[in-house]
Amino acid sequence: MKIDEKYYRTIWPIPGAASPKNEAVFKVGIIDQTMLPHQFNVLELHTLQEMALAISNMQVRGAPLIGAAAAYGFALAVQSDASDQYLRNAAQTLLNTRPTAVNLHWAIKRMQKCIDALPVADRRDAAWREAALICEEDVQINRAIGQHGMKLIEAEFSKSKKNTFNILTHCNAGWLATVDWGTALSPIYTAHDAGMPIHVWVDETRPRNQGASLTAWELGKHGIPHTVISDNAGGHLMQHGQVDMVLVGADRVTSTGDVCNKIGTYLKALAAFDNHVPFYAAVPSPTIDWTIKDGLKDIEIEMRHADEVSYISGLTDDGQIKSIRLTPHHSHAINPAFDVTPSHLVTGIITERGVTLPNQLSGLFN
Ligand code: MRU
Repeated sequence: MKIDEKYYRTIWPIPGAASPKNEAVFKVGIIDQTMLPHQFNVLELHTLQEMALAISNMQVRGAPLIGAAAAYGFALAVQSDASDQYLRNAAQTLLNTRPTAVNLHWAIKRMQKCIDALPVADRRDAAWREAALICEEDVQINRAIGQHGMKLIEAEFSKSKKNTFNILTHCNAGWLATVDWGTALSPIYTAHDAGMPIHVWVDETRPRNQGASLTAWELGKHGIPHTVISDNAGGHLMQHGQVDMVLVGADRVTSTGDVCNKIGTYLKALAAFDNHVPFYAAVPSPTIDWTIKDGLKDIEIEMRHADEVSYISGLTDDGQIKSIRLTPHHSHAINPAFDVTPSHLVTGIITERGVTLPNQLSGLFN
Protein backbone atom coordinates (compact mmCIF):
# COMPACT_ATOMS: atom_id res chain seq x y z
CA MET A 1 0.00 0.00 0.00
CA LYS A 2 1.08 3.60 -0.37
CA ILE A 3 2.12 5.93 2.42
CA ASP A 4 2.33 9.50 1.23
CA GLU A 5 2.77 8.38 -2.38
CA LYS A 6 5.53 5.87 -1.60
CA TYR A 7 4.77 2.17 -2.00
CA TYR A 8 5.55 0.01 1.04
CA ARG A 9 5.22 -3.56 2.14
CA THR A 10 5.53 -4.37 5.82
CA ILE A 11 8.70 -6.44 5.42
CA TRP A 12 11.37 -6.61 2.75
CA PRO A 13 14.92 -7.88 2.21
CA ILE A 14 17.68 -5.29 1.81
CA PRO A 15 20.89 -6.25 0.01
CA GLY A 16 24.02 -5.46 2.02
CA ALA A 17 27.74 -5.61 1.22
CA ALA A 18 28.85 -9.08 0.00
CA SER A 19 30.54 -11.42 2.50
CA PRO A 20 34.32 -12.12 2.39
CA LYS A 21 33.43 -15.27 0.40
CA ASN A 22 31.58 -13.02 -2.04
CA GLU A 23 28.16 -14.32 -1.04
CA ALA A 24 25.18 -11.95 -1.15
CA VAL A 25 24.24 -10.69 2.34
CA PHE A 26 20.80 -9.40 3.24
CA LYS A 27 19.26 -7.58 6.13
CA VAL A 28 15.50 -7.19 6.58
CA GLY A 29 13.49 -3.96 6.66
CA ILE A 30 10.37 -3.61 8.80
CA ILE A 31 8.04 -0.80 9.83
CA ASP A 32 8.22 -0.37 13.62
CA GLN A 33 4.51 -0.72 14.45
CA THR A 34 4.99 0.17 18.12
CA MET A 35 5.60 3.79 17.07
CA LEU A 36 2.53 4.17 14.85
CA PRO A 37 0.46 6.26 14.36
CA HIS A 38 2.71 8.95 15.80
CA GLN A 39 6.00 8.09 14.12
CA PHE A 40 6.74 6.20 10.94
CA ASN A 41 10.08 4.48 11.55
CA VAL A 42 11.75 1.86 9.42
CA LEU A 43 14.13 -0.56 11.17
CA GLU A 44 16.81 -2.76 9.64
CA LEU A 45 17.25 -6.17 11.26
CA HIS A 46 20.51 -8.09 10.83
CA THR A 47 20.17 -11.22 12.93
CA LEU A 48 17.81 -13.96 13.99
CA GLN A 49 17.86 -12.55 17.53
CA GLU A 50 16.84 -9.08 16.33
CA MET A 51 13.95 -10.57 14.37
CA ALA A 52 12.82 -12.72 17.32
CA LEU A 53 12.78 -9.63 19.52
CA ALA A 54 10.86 -7.60 16.92
CA ILE A 55 8.19 -10.32 16.86
CA SER A 56 7.88 -10.69 20.63
CA ASN A 57 7.91 -6.90 21.20
CA MET A 58 5.23 -6.55 18.51
CA GLN A 59 7.24 -4.23 16.28
CA VAL A 60 5.90 -6.64 13.69
CA ARG A 61 2.59 -8.29 14.51
CA GLY A 62 -0.56 -9.74 12.97
CA ALA A 63 -0.69 -13.44 12.15
CA PRO A 64 0.36 -13.38 8.47
CA LEU A 65 3.13 -10.85 9.10
CA ILE A 66 4.39 -12.89 12.06
CA GLY A 67 4.68 -15.83 9.62
CA ALA A 68 6.56 -13.72 7.06
CA ALA A 69 8.82 -12.29 9.78
CA ALA A 70 9.60 -15.78 11.07
CA ALA A 71 10.50 -16.85 7.52
CA TYR A 72 12.92 -13.94 7.17
CA GLY A 73 14.21 -14.56 10.72
CA PHE A 74 14.99 -18.10 9.66
CA ALA A 75 16.76 -16.83 6.51
CA LEU A 76 18.86 -14.51 8.69
CA ALA A 77 19.76 -17.54 10.82
CA VAL A 78 20.76 -19.57 7.75
CA GLN A 79 22.90 -16.65 6.62
CA SER A 80 24.92 -16.73 9.83
CA ASP A 81 25.17 -20.51 10.29
CA ALA A 82 23.48 -23.07 8.04
CA SER A 83 24.30 -26.13 10.16
CA ASP A 84 21.47 -28.47 11.25
CA GLN A 85 22.12 -27.91 14.95
CA TYR A 86 22.10 -24.10 14.69
CA LEU A 87 18.94 -24.08 12.59
CA ARG A 88 17.10 -26.39 14.99
CA ASN A 89 17.82 -23.89 17.77
CA ALA A 90 16.95 -20.97 15.52
CA ALA A 91 13.54 -22.51 14.76
CA GLN A 92 12.92 -22.93 18.49
CA THR A 93 13.94 -19.31 19.19
CA LEU A 94 11.37 -18.14 16.66
CA LEU A 95 8.69 -20.55 17.89
CA ASN A 96 9.13 -19.16 21.42
CA THR A 97 8.30 -15.60 20.38
CA ARG A 98 4.50 -15.82 20.25
CA PRO A 99 2.36 -18.94 20.71
CA THR A 100 -1.07 -18.27 19.22
CA ALA A 101 -0.77 -17.28 15.56
CA VAL A 102 -0.34 -20.57 13.72
CA ASN A 103 1.26 -18.79 10.75
CA LEU A 104 4.49 -18.71 12.77
CA HIS A 105 4.60 -22.52 13.04
CA TRP A 106 3.49 -22.90 9.44
CA ALA A 107 6.22 -20.59 8.09
CA ILE A 108 9.02 -22.16 10.15
CA LYS A 109 7.98 -25.66 9.12
CA ARG A 110 7.97 -24.58 5.50
CA MET A 111 11.41 -22.97 5.78
CA GLN A 112 12.81 -26.09 7.47
CA LYS A 113 11.34 -28.34 4.80
CA CYS A 114 12.85 -26.18 2.08
CA ILE A 115 16.44 -26.33 3.36
CA ASP A 116 16.52 -29.70 5.18
CA ALA A 117 17.38 -31.81 2.17
CA LEU A 118 19.94 -29.33 0.79
CA PRO A 119 23.69 -29.37 1.34
CA VAL A 120 24.79 -26.62 3.77
CA ALA A 121 26.39 -24.61 0.94
CA ASP A 122 23.09 -24.28 -0.94
CA ARG A 123 20.89 -23.36 2.01
CA ARG A 124 21.44 -19.62 2.18
CA ASP A 125 20.09 -18.72 -1.29
CA ALA A 126 17.26 -21.22 -0.96
CA ALA A 127 16.19 -19.72 2.39
CA TRP A 128 16.05 -16.15 1.06
CA ARG A 129 14.12 -17.36 -1.99
CA GLU A 130 11.60 -19.29 0.12
CA ALA A 131 11.02 -16.37 2.51
CA ALA A 132 10.40 -14.08 -0.47
CA LEU A 133 8.00 -16.64 -1.92
CA ILE A 134 6.05 -16.85 1.35
CA CYS A 135 5.67 -13.06 1.19
CA GLU A 136 4.57 -13.07 -2.46
CA GLU A 137 2.01 -15.76 -1.74
CA ASP A 138 0.71 -13.80 1.24
CA VAL A 139 0.07 -10.80 -1.01
CA GLN A 140 -1.73 -12.94 -3.62
CA ILE A 141 -3.83 -14.71 -0.98
CA ASN A 142 -4.91 -11.43 0.62
CA ARG A 143 -5.71 -9.94 -2.77
CA ALA A 144 -8.01 -12.90 -3.47
CA ILE A 145 -9.63 -12.53 -0.03
CA GLY A 146 -10.29 -8.91 -1.00
CA GLN A 147 -12.06 -9.95 -4.20
CA HIS A 148 -14.22 -12.61 -2.55
CA GLY A 149 -14.99 -10.39 0.42
CA MET A 150 -15.97 -7.50 -1.82
CA LYS A 151 -18.65 -9.63 -3.50
CA LEU A 152 -20.02 -10.47 -0.08
CA ILE A 153 -20.09 -6.80 0.92
CA GLU A 154 -21.78 -5.95 -2.39
CA ALA A 155 -24.50 -8.55 -1.76
CA GLU A 156 -25.09 -7.43 1.85
CA PHE A 157 -25.05 -3.77 0.80
CA SER A 158 -27.73 -4.25 -1.82
CA LYS A 159 -29.86 -6.18 0.71
CA SER A 160 -29.46 -3.39 3.28
CA LYS A 161 -30.93 -0.66 1.02
CA LYS A 162 -28.85 1.91 2.90
CA ASN A 163 -26.73 4.75 1.54
CA THR A 164 -23.67 3.72 3.51
CA PHE A 165 -22.51 0.26 4.48
CA ASN A 166 -21.18 0.13 8.05
CA ILE A 167 -18.59 -2.50 8.89
CA LEU A 168 -17.25 -3.04 12.39
CA THR A 169 -13.73 -4.43 12.74
CA HIS A 170 -11.65 -5.42 15.75
CA CYS A 171 -7.89 -5.16 16.22
CA ASN A 172 -5.81 -4.62 13.09
CA ALA A 173 -6.26 -7.05 10.23
CA GLY A 174 -5.11 -4.59 7.60
CA TRP A 175 -2.02 -4.42 5.44
CA LEU A 176 0.12 -3.75 8.50
CA ALA A 177 -0.82 -7.18 9.86
CA THR A 178 0.17 -8.93 6.63
CA VAL A 179 2.77 -8.38 3.92
CA ASP A 180 0.26 -6.27 1.99
CA TRP A 181 -3.51 -5.70 1.60
CA GLY A 182 -4.55 -7.22 4.92
CA THR A 183 -7.11 -9.92 5.59
CA ALA A 184 -10.28 -8.32 7.02
CA LEU A 185 -9.40 -4.92 5.55
CA SER A 186 -8.63 -6.27 2.08
CA PRO A 187 -12.34 -6.59 1.13
CA ILE A 188 -12.85 -3.11 2.59
CA TYR A 189 -10.06 -1.58 0.49
CA THR A 190 -11.30 -3.45 -2.57
CA ALA A 191 -14.94 -2.40 -2.09
CA HIS A 192 -13.97 1.21 -1.37
CA ASP A 193 -11.74 1.34 -4.45
CA ALA A 194 -14.66 -0.03 -6.50
CA GLY A 195 -16.74 2.95 -5.37
CA MET A 196 -18.86 1.42 -2.61
CA PRO A 197 -19.78 3.81 0.20
CA ILE A 198 -18.15 2.06 3.15
CA HIS A 199 -17.78 3.37 6.67
CA VAL A 200 -15.75 1.43 9.24
CA TRP A 201 -16.34 1.30 12.99
CA VAL A 202 -12.87 0.72 14.43
CA ASP A 203 -12.73 -0.94 17.85
CA GLU A 204 -9.87 0.67 19.77
CA THR A 205 -8.80 -2.85 20.91
CA ARG A 206 -7.41 -2.50 24.39
CA PRO A 207 -4.89 -3.18 25.73
CA ARG A 208 -2.46 -2.62 22.82
CA ASN A 209 -4.91 -0.46 20.86
CA GLN A 210 -4.14 -1.92 17.44
CA GLY A 211 -7.50 -0.59 16.23
CA ALA A 212 -7.07 2.98 17.46
CA SER A 213 -3.47 3.26 16.40
CA LEU A 214 -2.99 0.97 13.39
CA THR A 215 -6.36 0.32 11.73
CA ALA A 216 -7.40 3.96 12.03
CA TRP A 217 -4.03 5.07 10.59
CA GLU A 218 -4.20 2.67 7.65
CA LEU A 219 -7.79 3.51 6.79
CA GLY A 220 -7.05 7.22 7.06
CA LYS A 221 -4.05 6.94 4.72
CA HIS A 222 -6.30 5.23 2.18
CA GLY A 223 -9.09 7.77 2.56
CA ILE A 224 -11.66 5.34 3.96
CA PRO A 225 -14.28 6.95 6.23
CA HIS A 226 -13.99 5.47 9.70
CA THR A 227 -14.79 6.18 13.34
CA VAL A 228 -12.84 4.86 16.32
CA ILE A 229 -15.05 3.54 19.10
CA SER A 230 -14.32 2.20 22.55
CA ASP A 231 -14.39 -1.58 22.69
CA ASN A 232 -17.58 -1.44 24.69
CA ALA A 233 -19.57 0.55 22.12
CA GLY A 234 -20.05 -2.12 19.42
CA GLY A 235 -22.98 -3.93 21.04
CA HIS A 236 -24.85 -0.67 21.51
CA LEU A 237 -24.31 0.31 17.86
CA MET A 238 -25.55 -3.09 16.73
CA GLN A 239 -28.71 -2.77 18.82
CA HIS A 240 -29.41 0.50 17.02
CA GLY A 241 -28.94 -0.84 13.49
CA GLN A 242 -25.68 0.97 12.91
CA VAL A 243 -23.57 -2.07 12.05
CA ASP A 244 -24.28 -3.98 8.83
CA MET A 245 -21.44 -6.49 9.12
CA VAL A 246 -18.68 -7.46 11.53
CA LEU A 247 -15.47 -8.36 9.69
CA VAL A 248 -12.40 -9.53 11.60
CA GLY A 249 -9.15 -11.38 10.94
CA ALA A 250 -7.86 -14.45 12.76
CA ASP A 251 -4.73 -15.78 14.38
CA ARG A 252 -5.71 -19.42 14.21
CA VAL A 253 -8.82 -21.17 12.90
CA THR A 254 -9.62 -24.80 13.64
CA SER A 255 -10.58 -27.29 10.95
CA THR A 256 -14.13 -26.99 12.34
CA GLY A 257 -14.27 -23.19 11.95
CA ASP A 258 -13.67 -21.92 15.50
CA VAL A 259 -11.99 -18.53 15.15
CA CYS A 260 -9.23 -17.44 17.51
CA ASN A 261 -8.56 -13.72 17.20
CA LYS A 262 -7.62 -10.70 19.32
CA ILE A 263 -9.15 -10.59 22.77
CA GLY A 264 -12.65 -9.09 22.62
CA THR A 265 -13.60 -10.63 19.27
CA TYR A 266 -15.84 -13.18 21.01
CA LEU A 267 -17.89 -10.43 22.68
CA LYS A 268 -18.44 -8.81 19.28
CA ALA A 269 -19.58 -12.14 17.87
CA LEU A 270 -22.06 -12.58 20.73
CA ALA A 271 -23.49 -9.12 20.19
CA ALA A 272 -23.65 -9.70 16.42
CA PHE A 273 -25.49 -13.01 16.94
CA ASP A 274 -28.03 -11.40 19.26
CA ASN A 275 -28.66 -8.59 16.77
CA HIS A 276 -28.69 -10.67 13.55
CA VAL A 277 -25.63 -8.87 12.23
CA PRO A 278 -23.52 -11.10 9.94
CA PHE A 279 -20.15 -11.94 11.50
CA TYR A 280 -17.37 -12.88 9.05
CA ALA A 281 -13.72 -13.78 9.57
CA ALA A 282 -11.20 -13.25 6.76
CA VAL A 283 -8.78 -16.15 6.92
CA PRO A 284 -5.80 -16.93 4.67
CA SER A 285 -5.14 -20.68 4.44
CA PRO A 286 -1.86 -20.54 6.46
CA THR A 287 -3.99 -19.38 9.42
CA ILE A 288 -6.01 -22.62 9.40
CA ASP A 289 -4.73 -25.26 11.80
CA TRP A 290 -6.00 -28.48 10.23
CA THR A 291 -4.66 -30.51 13.16
CA ILE A 292 -7.17 -29.21 15.71
CA LYS A 293 -10.93 -29.29 16.07
CA ASP A 294 -11.77 -27.58 19.34
CA GLY A 295 -10.61 -23.98 19.55
CA LEU A 296 -11.33 -23.63 23.25
CA LYS A 297 -9.34 -26.71 24.23
CA ASP A 298 -6.63 -26.89 21.59
CA ILE A 299 -5.35 -23.31 21.11
CA GLU A 300 -2.74 -21.85 23.42
CA ILE A 301 -3.80 -18.32 24.29
CA GLU A 302 -0.85 -15.98 24.68
CA MET A 303 -0.69 -14.36 28.11
CA ARG A 304 1.11 -11.05 27.73
CA HIS A 305 2.60 -8.82 30.40
CA ALA A 306 0.12 -7.24 32.83
CA ASP A 307 1.77 -3.85 32.28
CA GLU A 308 0.03 -3.68 28.90
CA VAL A 309 -3.22 -3.43 30.89
CA SER A 310 -1.91 -1.29 33.76
CA TYR A 311 -0.28 1.29 31.49
CA ILE A 312 -1.29 3.09 28.33
CA SER A 313 0.96 4.88 25.90
CA GLY A 314 0.23 7.88 23.69
CA LEU A 315 1.39 11.23 22.37
CA THR A 316 1.69 14.15 24.76
CA ASP A 317 0.73 17.65 23.65
CA ASP A 318 4.43 18.50 23.38
CA GLY A 319 4.97 15.67 20.91
CA GLN A 320 6.52 12.94 23.05
CA ILE A 321 5.37 9.31 23.09
CA LYS A 322 4.88 8.43 26.76
CA SER A 323 3.52 5.58 28.79
CA ILE A 324 1.38 6.40 31.83
CA ARG A 325 -0.08 4.24 34.58
CA LEU A 326 -3.87 3.69 34.55
CA THR A 327 -4.48 1.38 37.50
CA PRO A 328 -3.75 1.61 41.25
CA HIS A 329 -0.28 0.31 42.14
CA HIS A 330 -1.67 -2.51 44.26
CA SER A 331 -4.17 -3.78 41.65
CA HIS A 332 -3.27 -7.02 39.96
CA ALA A 333 -3.95 -7.24 36.21
CA ILE A 334 -3.94 -10.09 33.70
CA ASN A 335 -3.62 -9.92 29.96
CA PRO A 336 -4.88 -12.78 27.79
CA ALA A 337 -4.20 -11.59 24.24
CA PHE A 338 -6.69 -13.69 22.24
CA ASP A 339 -10.05 -15.40 22.57
CA VAL A 340 -11.95 -18.03 20.65
CA THR A 341 -15.24 -17.43 18.87
CA PRO A 342 -16.99 -20.80 18.46
CA SER A 343 -18.03 -21.62 14.90
CA HIS A 344 -21.77 -21.42 15.65
CA LEU A 345 -21.37 -17.65 16.10
CA VAL A 346 -19.54 -17.24 12.78
CA THR A 347 -21.70 -16.54 9.72
CA GLY A 348 -18.94 -17.34 7.28
CA ILE A 349 -15.23 -17.49 6.59
CA ILE A 350 -13.65 -15.63 3.70
CA THR A 351 -10.59 -17.39 2.30
CA GLU A 352 -8.53 -17.03 -0.87
CA ARG A 353 -10.62 -19.88 -2.31
CA GLY A 354 -13.97 -18.23 -1.62
CA VAL A 355 -16.49 -17.83 1.19
CA THR A 356 -17.73 -20.79 3.18
CA LEU A 357 -19.72 -21.76 6.23
CA PRO A 358 -17.28 -22.27 9.11
CA ASN A 359 -17.99 -25.99 9.41
CA GLN A 360 -17.39 -26.50 5.69
CA LEU A 361 -13.89 -25.05 5.53
CA SER A 362 -12.25 -28.32 4.59
CA GLY A 363 -14.53 -28.60 1.55
CA LEU A 364 -12.77 -25.57 0.07
CA PHE A 365 -9.28 -26.92 0.51
CA ASN A 366 -9.51 -30.68 0.12
O1 MRU B 1 -1.42 -9.38 18.89
P1 MRU B 1 -1.47 -9.02 17.43
O2 MRU B 1 -1.49 -7.55 17.17
O3 MRU B 1 -0.43 -9.76 16.64
O4 MRU B 1 -2.87 -9.60 17.00
C1 MRU B 1 -3.34 -9.40 15.72
C2 MRU B 1 -4.72 -9.88 15.54
O5 MRU B 1 -5.33 -10.44 16.41
C3 MRU B 1 -5.29 -9.71 14.19
O6 MRU B 1 -6.66 -9.45 14.26
C4 MRU B 1 -5.07 -11.02 13.47
O7 MRU B 1 -3.72 -11.36 13.44
C5 MRU B 1 -5.67 -10.92 12.17
S1 MRU B 1 -4.60 -11.04 10.90
C6 MRU B 1 -4.49 -10.02 9.72
